This record gives sequence, C-alpha cells and structure tokens, in this order.
Amino acid sequence: MKDIRRAVVTGASSGIGTATVRALAADGWTVVALARRTERLEALAEEVNAAESRPAVSWEECDVTDEASTQAAVERVLAGGPVKALVNCAGAALGKDPVATASLDDWRAMYELNVLGTLRITQKLLPALKESAGTVLVISSTAGIEPYEGGAGYCASKFAERVMARVLRLEQIGEPVRVVDISPGMVHTEEFSVHRFRGDQAKADAVYAGVPDPLKAEDIAECVRWALDQPDTVDIDSIVVRPRAEGSYTKVHRER
Ligand SMILES: NC(=O)c1ccc[n+]([C@@H]2O[C@H](COP(=O)([O-])OP(=O)(O)OC[C@H]3O[C@@H](n4cnc5c(N)ncnc54)[C@H](OP(=O)(O)O)[C@@H]3O)[C@@H](O)[C@H]2O)c1
Repeated sequence: MKDIRRAVVTGASSGIGTATVRALAADGWTVVALARRTERLEALAEEVNAAESRPAVSWEECDVTDEASTQAAVERVLAGGPVKALVNCAGAALGKDPVATASLDDWRAMYELNVLGTLRITQKLLPALKESAGTVLVISSTAGIEPYEGGAGYCASKFAERVMARVLRLEQIGEPVRVVDISPGMVHTEEFSVHRFRGDQAKADAVYAGVPDPLKAEDIAECVRWALDQPDTVDIDSIVVRPRAEGSYTKVHRER
C-alpha cells in the first residue's frame, strides 16, 4: 500500500505540528490535523487547501489526554479511509523547577500528555497503520537522551516517550510497521517556552537569546517528511537533530 499517503498529525495547531502538516501536504500527502484548538486547525486547513488547490488537510478536535475525545477522533479518522502515518507532535514542558521543589501536578500533567497521550493514540491507530504498512513517528526530544538541571520532569517524560517508541519497534519486528523517533534539540517555536514558563515572555525569550540560529519548526517537519518518504522497508530508527550552535542542552553558543 505504498501509494496511500494519508497521515494523522497530533499537536497540529502550533509549532512543529503545524509545520509538519504544511510539509506533508506540500509533498502530496492528505493530512488529518488533530489538536484541542479547533479554530487554529480550521484556519490551517483553509490556508493549506488554498495553497495546494485540493482538499489536502482536514481536522478533528482531539485531546490526547482524554480517552473519549481520542476515541471519537480516531473513529472519525478511520471512517475517512486508511492511515499510513501517525506523527505524534502533541507535547509540552511545564516548569523548570529543581527536583527538590518541583510541582507534582506539573510532572503528572507532562506524563499524561507526553507519555500516556502518545501511547493512547498510538494504540488506537496501530492496527490501521499495520494494515497499510505504515509508520508510527514520535517527536520526542534530546531531553529524552540527556537530562539537565531543572528539567527532570520533562526529561523523565521524554525518556519514557523514547523508550516507548524503541520497545514498540522491538515488539513489532516482523510486522508491517515502522517506528521512528525524532529527537530535536532547541527549536524556536512560538508557544513551547512561553507555555513552559506560564506566559512569562521574558523567560521564554531568554531560552533562545543570542543563539545564532535555533532550529525552526520547518527543520523538524522536513525530517518527518523525509523519514516518512523512505521505502516501507527502510525504518529511520532515530534522528537526533540540533542547531549547529547547540552541542548539548548546557553547551550552547550565544552571541551577545
Ligand atoms: N520546541 C522545542 O524546542 C522542542 C524540542 C524538542 C522536542 N519538542 C517536542 O516537540 C513537540 C512539539 O513541540 P512544539 O515546540 O511544536 O510545541 P507547541 O508549539 O507548544 O505545540 C504543542 C502542541 O501540542 C498540542 N497539545 C497540547 N496539549 C494537548 C492535548 N492534551 N491534546 C492534544 N494536543 C495537545 C497543542 O495544541 P492544543 O493546545 O491546540 O491542543 C500544540 O499544537 C512536543 O512534544 C515537544 O516536547 C519541542
């Protein structure tokens, strides 16, 4: 079923998810965009469909932390036809507090979204993905490879998300499904750090201050597009992608 090019993208209402919807549509895919903020999805679909001169993008409301919402979205997606790829972009960091004082609620929310949200929708779409020799793709993070001070809650959730992808790949060996993990370093998206610091724009701006060229959402979207474009039998197991200016989370070149 190599000719089927229909993808589901979670977290499609901003940042990497939005860029991924645009990149896949421009590459000939039909995309179902999922998120909670439907007005953004509607605007994205209108924009891309006009640019592509075809109904390339549709959307469904979906809160991946909510069982009923995810089940309903998946049912509507499957009613629309076969699915070749699931791109898990929905995710967030909350706070940057030390372990000694971190909020249990923040940790719980990150686990619910980054780990269980990804697990929930992956489980529901896996049978359909296997029917089309498809791909589960996870946008995890370099935070899932190297922990940093103040990041334990987010890093723990991203370590877990990466482990989930790796174990799924092991468990599905011999089955017609690929599992791809893309681990980005610093990506300057509009909302990610603002959300992390609860609307404190100055703190969010400081994350990227002086960094010559942080990655853009489009850079990650291109990694997704390329990984999905490989033959069904070629599994891009893992991509670690950082800006040139970032050696690690704690080794970042800044021009001041
Ligand atoms: N930016 C970075 O530096 C960076 C680096 C490495 C990895 N990542 C990872 O890449 C992914 C996307 O990051 P980003 O920078 O694009 O972040 P972003 O702009 O904040 O986008 C997050 C997306 O997740 C969606 N989302 C949040 N809660 C949700 C829920 N309960 N159910 C469904 N969707 C939900 C949001 O949509 P709604 O609010 O409309 O639901 C939004 O579309 C995340 O997993 C993040 O951890 C980011």
